[in-house]
Amino acid sequence: MKNLSKTAKKILKTNRRKGYTLPTNNKLYPAQWNWDSAFISIGYSYFNLEYAIKELETLIKGQWKNGMIPHILFHEKDDSYFPNHKTWKCGNSVSSSGITQPPIVATALKLIITRNKLNKNQKKRVILLIKKLKKYHDWFYKYRDPKNTGLVSIIHPWESGLDNSPLWDSSLKKIKIDKKLSYKRRDLEVSNSKARPLNSDYDCYITLLNQFKKLNYNPNKLYSNSMFNVVDIGFNSIFLKASKDLLEIAKLYNLNLKDLNKKIFKTESSLLKMYNKKKNIFYSYDLKNKFFINIPSISNYFILFADLNDKKVNKKIIESLKKYNQKEKYIFSSIKPDHKSFEEKRYWRGPVWINTNWIIYQSLKNKDKVYAKKIKDKTIKLIEEKNFFEYYSCKNAETLGANNFSWSSALYLDLIYESN
Ligand code: DGY
Repeated sequence: MKNLSKTAKKILKTNRRKGYTLPTNNKLYPAQWNWDSAFISIGYSYFNLEYAIKELETLIKGQWKNGMIPHILFHEKDDSYFPNHKTWKCGNSVSSSGITQPPIVATALKLIITRNKLNKNQKKRVILLIKKLKKYHDWFYKYRDPKNTGLVSIIHPWESGLDNSPLWDSSLKKIKIDKKLSYKRRDLEVSNSKARPLNSDYDCYITLLNQFKKLNYNPNKLYSNSMFNVVDIGFNSIFLKASKDLLEIAKLYNLNLKDLNKKIFKTESSLLKMYNKKKNIFYSYDLKNKFFINIPSISNYFILFADLNDKKVNKKIIESLKKYNQKEKYIFSSIKPDHKSFEEKRYWRGPVWINTNWIIYQSLKNKDKVYAKKIKDKTIKLIEEKNFFEYYSCKNAETLGANNFSWSSALYLDLIYESN
């Protein structure tokens, strides 16, 4: 198979703008996305440390005064995306969305700084980033877990990163759609509607957005009033892992991150309580409507990424993961293919995504080396056969969504270069 490292680097450089990188090179996503940037910075760290640090600095420049780092930053006022800065109408020094995304930034920062030698100036900047990330994590605990349960909520499907996953279907059915809703989607002008979320999904997304805008993005009100409030296992696992990584890198610089240790301990024990022993799975929970979400999603296995200190449970979950995509040639489908909600080509309802493969691979490296290597090899092979797409069919690797996708390129570089 051909090594595509040159192409991957070229894609990242081509997609790069002033201090940040677009998710792809067409009009589909003309801004900076939170978790995209984190993944992208890991890729840069192998050939341009300055770009890697700058990517995260530009993201954190959009941090709100209360600590939140938004899911989208509109550095340039580009109207070709919907919903853009005019719809959201918020942001501090940078126009932004009013919600967040899976907080994997601290994990990315840890990978970058432990694999590179930093000069004095870079160390100073990294210390600043660590302090701001602490503020971000504090924001989660304060505003997304006000009752101090140890688990944080997402209040919009976009926050999960898995926008139209069947995970959210039942919760979204309960939302009262704004009767006067009027908007124009722009994504379908540049992407195939068969592989994108439905209009009925967008009705929910925009109804929620309008609700948040009406509440002036007041974080207390958003938490208590949002028509969507879910404790997502995937999100909480990423959050816990990132909190642990944040604590670790703070120690490297003798920074004392007050309280974080205690909070990590609590989140860890609360997450463990979510284990359904009978079904051998961790299910997300709809806090608003009080039900467990029993949908087989690959993100349920992100619990392995959290590195829970319970070998027995981890081992059982790995056994279940091995059965998840048993019949498929390409792994991992975002939804288990034999589930009724599975759709081969539609965005987060079935296709394979490189970032979720990467998360699962990272999760297994210290738990099942042989299986981890298998996942890594399959992911590299998929990209080398089909190039850097946004997502792929698990049946035949048909390429879907955007080409020249930044996080697929960045994480490919990580997979082929990492020395462990
Ligand atoms: C989109 O526009 O599809 C994004 O995933 C929203 O974050």
